[in-house]
Amino acid sequence: MRIVSGMRPTGKLHLGHYFGVLKNWLKLQENNQCFFFIADWHALTNKYKETDSLKENIEEMIIDWLSVGLNPEKNILFIQSQVKQHAELSLLFSMITPKSWLELNPSYKDLKFNLYYQYLKDFLLGKNIKVLQTPPPKSLDEALEEATGKQKNKIFDEYLRELFFRAFYNQKGIDFKGLKERLILLGVNKKVVEEALKNLETGDIGKDIDTVGFLSYPVLQAADILIYKADTVPVGEDQLPHIELTREIARRFNNLYGKTFPEPKHILTEEAKLLGIDGRKMSKSYNNAIYLSEDSKSVEQKVLMMKTDPQRVKKTDAGNPDVCIVFSYHKLFTREEAVRDIDNKCRKAEIGCVECKKILATNINQFLEPIRSNREEIKKNIDSYIDIFKEGSKKASEEAEKTMEEVRENMKLWKF
Ligand code: TRP
Ligand code: SF4
Repeated sequence: MRIVSGMRPTGKLHLGHYFGVLKNWLKLQENNQCFFFIADWHALTNKYKETDSLKENIEEMIIDWLSVGLNPEKNILFIQSQVKQHAELSLLFSMITPKSWLELNPSYKDLKFNLYYQYLKDFLLGKNIKVLQTPPPKSLDEALEEATGKQKNKIFDEYLRELFFRAFYNQKGIDFKGLKERLILLGVNKKVVEEALKNLETGDIGKDIDTVGFLSYPVLQAADILIYKADTVPVGEDQLPHIELTREIARRFNNLYGKTFPEPKHILTEEAKLLGIDGRKMSKSYNNAIYLSEDSKSVEQKVLMMKTDPQRVKKTDAGNPDVCIVFSYHKLFTREEAVRDIDNKCRKAEIGCVECKKILATNINQFLEPIRSNREEIKKNIDSYIDIFKEGSKKASEEAEKTMEEVRENMKLWKF
């Protein structure tokens, strides 16, 4: 198979990336021709103001990739912006891509939803409003009545999210009018509602991502993939709409100018197997991640902070490993018999959580140890490792240029 996949350089990688993406790549590199690249242009689509950290983030990604064992002998490893043909193909694709395909793209819409919603919530909570006296479902009312502090915000959050969801995914665009009425009915001060919604209606919020570049993110991604005539793209579930769009662009191009591109299929990287130390999705922004570059002391500290079975209060209580974050890690980092042993002992209250966590920390550190020593070696000779990506970019360019010659010819573009 010919495989293409990329990652945006947004900072150092964590164990979630390893088990969600890199492990899959390591497997694929054995029997396929793979193009793996650092999608630095894609990072600009929402971070165009923060170019100061680009270089560092790219170097960090180079170190992370090579230290876990992505093999430059087997794969073409490169940097997107160093293969200018991606931009050329993206431009040509943008000519044939209907705007509506992009505006209706679920990833784009969801991002906007989250941004708008976060703003609305912060605004309303910032005003310290009392909500929900009338007429929403009784149960919610009561729940709010009884709830205090943090809990209250959570219930409010869920309710507001639901309301905003309905208004946002309205057939005819965002239903600001309906939303306003609902919020006022809930007892939110009319002035506050109007003020909050005004900033959304005028498009002031989210202006940063209201760019042509952001909207056409999937067009660039289609170019990344099709320029190598990839047949397979390993991605996470959130990327599926982009791959679908890639197929549609390929189809449209082929219809207009003759068969040029294959329609690539995706392979899904499995559901994140590894949650953050607090049980939510592992993410830099939640501050719950363990990084590939984490030192052993700090791994231990983080493991000791991990959530366990919430029902197990005292060491003498029997625990339930099935609901315990620590245990879910054991399944990935601990030998099979030892996992079974912990499972048994936990259920019989024969092992304490601290002991259990210490074992885990040791095993995670054992896993990270070779990666750490690779990192040291790579850092010492960083220039020569950057050269690997330079070479890779050259090879990728040659490959990309072949496709572009065909594209220009099929499109009957000018040639001297
Ligand atoms: N959009 C992808 C992500 O955020 C990164 C990416 C860019 C990509 N171009 C690609 C992935 C091409 C696969 C193929 O994860
Ligand atoms: Fe979780 Fe281990 Fe405690 Fe059981 S003993 S609840 S598996 S941390």
